[in-house]
Amino acid sequence: MSEQVSTLTVTDNRTGRTYEVPIKDGAVRAADLRKIKVDDSDFGLMAYDPAFTNTASCRSAITFIDGEAGILRYRGYPIQELAEKSSFLEVAYLLLAGELPTREELATWEDEITHHTMVHESIKKFIDGFHHDAHPMGMLVSTVGALSTFYPDAKQIKDPGLRRLQIVRLIAKITTLAAYSYRHSVGFPYVYPDNDLSYAGNFLNMLWKATELKYEPDPVLEHALDVLFILHADHEQNCSANAMRAVGSSEADPFSAAAAAIAALYGPLHGGANEQVLRMLREIGSPENIPAFIAQVKDGKKKLMGFGHRVYKNYDPRARVIRQIADEVFKVTGTSPLLDLAMELERIALEDEYFVSRRLYPNVDFYTGIIYQAMGFPVEMFPVLFAIGRMPGWLAQWEEGLLDPEQKIARPRQIYIGHGERPYVPMSERSQTAAEDVDAIAAQAAQAAPDRPLR
Ligand code: COA
Repeated sequence: MSEQVSTLTVTDNRTGRTYEVPIKDGAVRAADLRKIKVDDSDFGLMAYDPAFTNTASCRSAITFIDGEAGILRYRGYPIQELAEKSSFLEVAYLLLAGELPTREELATWEDEITHHTMVHESIKKFIDGFHHDAHPMGMLVSTVGALSTFYPDAKQIKDPGLRRLQIVRLIAKITTLAAYSYRHSVGFPYVYPDNDLSYAGNFLNMLWKATELKYEPDPVLEHALDVLFILHADHEQNCSANAMRAVGSSEADPFSAAAAAIAALYGPLHGGANEQVLRMLREIGSPENIPAFIAQVKDGKKKLMGFGHRVYKNYDPRARVIRQIADEVFKVTGTSPLLDLAMELERIALEDEYFVSRRLYPNVDFYTGIIYQAMGFPVEMFPVLFAIGRMPGWLAQWEEGLLDPEQKIARPRQIYIGHGERPYVPMSERSQTAAEDVDAIAAQAAQAAPDRPLR
């Protein structure tokens, strides 16, 4: 990346004054715009950028994406190569330490993670307290956040040794919390971690072990899950990484920040998309219904879930790897009619002018849901699997933010568009309008979810 400093010259047509603003790494500093003022009492020019579509919030050395070219690299290594040659824990080490581990470093790292997978027994009581149909993502947000109460030393975020300990705890324990949430939802007893197994293999053990003395994961499924975790491990400044950094910037402990990141991932536009893809495919039902569905998407009535991306305006490189993994998984599990449907939907969409002109391609979520379903996961577990994979990325982003001397507590500006100061209205003089609005909103909400029991 060029270190050359050049400048931007801007003329403020309100005053006729001209300013010079430095350009570094293809960006101007928004704070440099503040000197552009109409007069001394003016606050200065701000940059308005809802959803941060053109604002860099940090300098980062972790993940590189070229959305136009469909490139994704962690610490300089192409995602395809990491997926083919590395294990998930090796990639987690790479993201956090900046370099691939030596054989000894990897062995120590794997040993550390393996020996931190147990959770405090009280966690089980929390999980027992959830409704039997509680969404596992809701349980994960809560239990990851709750870990902070078990590890008060996590508050010491300036201590490198303690930071590393929490990092190990989070990567290790998220699989246990995820598996316990699943076992609770199906009414099965919790399974303790098995230290003989790999990261992905142990997770499968904690999910699926029944009465056998020793659970033996299917090597193809174990490998597929490991690769899927690699593909999800980081994606630079996405919504959840931004949440992790923002909460971390207040110097909250990493368990609380990770709970916020998981909450961000829970939304259907982010980590919930693969769940939505499967629901969408079920709704379409069979290939002859695809054209009618596409017509609804083009009319703006539906969204083609698993298509489109804020940064990729090309085929998501992760989606390519996933197509290969799908073939391996289906050899073990048997093929799925949903896969045929998804492939046909992709073929039709990629030939359609609407999707072509908007550069909407399949993203990572388009095929993951079908693979997860074939592996036996209920749809509610899909975003949970995403969260497990993303944990090292969140932690690398969090630590990089903390160590960056340019960072402060995250606090965007706003453009206030509300009332100016106005006289207070005593109760006796208020119109009914505000109260009627509240009633109308409540009535609407009740209509939208008429059969939802109150809890
Ligand atoms: N289906 C149909 N139309 C879509 C679409 C989709 N999945 N994604 C984007 N578009 C359309 C928008 O309606 C818009 O059309 P317009 O220009 O006629 O208004 C255009 O493409 C640009 O989309 P925009 O909403 O500006 O893109 P974005 O960068 O804000 O949104 C996503 C990115 C990911 C939120 C969006 O593509 C989406 O909702 N995809 C489905 C959910 C999903 O798969 N998320 C997982 C991401 S890994």
